[in-house]
Amino acid sequence: MRDAPLTLDDLSSRERLDAGHDKPARLAVIGCPVAHSASPRMHQPALDEAGIDARYIKLHVEPGEVATAFARMRELGFIGCNVTVPHKFEAMAACSVVDPAAVEMGAVNTVRFEESATRGFNTDGPGFEAAVVEAFAIPLAGQDVLIAGAGGGAGGALAAHCARAGVRRLILANRSLDKIVALARWIEGHHPGLTIDTFRLDDPLLPDIARTCGLLVNTSSVGLKADDPSPLAATCFGVGQRVFDTIYQPPVTAFLAAAESAGAITANGASMLLHQGVHAFRLWFPGSEPTAAMRRGLASA
Ligand code: ATR
Repeated sequence: MRDAPLTLDDLSSRERLDAGHDKPARLAVIGCPVAHSASPRMHQPALDEAGIDARYIKLHVEPGEVATAFARMRELGFIGCNVTVPHKFEAMAACSVVDPAAVEMGAVNTVRFEESATRGFNTDGPGFEAAVVEAFAIPLAGQDVLIAGAGGGAGGALAAHCARAGVRRLILANRSLDKIVALARWIEGHHPGLTIDTFRLDDPLLPDIARTCGLLVNTSSVGLKADDPSPLAATCFGVGQRVFDTIYQPPVTAFLAAAESAGAITANGASMLLHQGVHAFRLWFPGSEPTAAMRRGLASA
């Protein structure tokens, strides 16, 4: 299979890496697994359209090998890479410099190999904000936001970005409390003046509070399977609320279906996928305008 993931062994030399290809591999997405990644389908058309002589590859990297992968890519003159599950935390540790926003989000999803630094960023937060603006035509600043399933990596990144973007109120809800209480205190430490409330998903007080929020977001993995229930009870949703699911496959989760039934305006995570990619591309190629090519690449997949 032509676009099957490569491994660290394939990075042993330029000759081996690029054998049979017109363009040199200079960008990658690393993950474990990584075969499903949509990133090459977005980035390659944008590279081609901009006339950049580079190939974007999928690279399978086992846990514990992220630093080695970075070192090999640097040696081969890579421009940068994207980082997907489960390496977003290990990648942060393997960078020599980490953007302060990524430190707050606790994870790195984009890396730029510079002459004297391996610099880490997180474009999931900005990608989420761009998706909210595009889907709902509202700014994130000033919103009352509830994040459901905030105990994982995506929830932590989005919660930290919401604080940075200047939301008015931030409420975190999760199946278990320990992780989101720690997350809330961490974010409050960076944003004095912002109070973050935490609830268990089954807290009987949650529906009344949820209905006062203008923006509800699901960052849990509940919804990835077709028969998953909604992580929030139907009574949490109300008319005119904006409801965003970071999941894009399936396109309509039980969370979004329940929100729509209650008269909310909904969007799935497809535009977040696009915009986190756009932000990454611009970190590698400042001043570029890859959005249209990336959107077409995703749509044709
Ligand atoms: P990560 O993103 O770090 O890989 P994850 O295990 O995929 O984490 O979980 C992401 C989020 O989905 C967490 O908030 C998790 O809740 P817990 O912190 O309580 O584990 C949530 N989640 C996963 N399965 C769930 C379920 N069946 N019901 C409710 N929430 C669930």
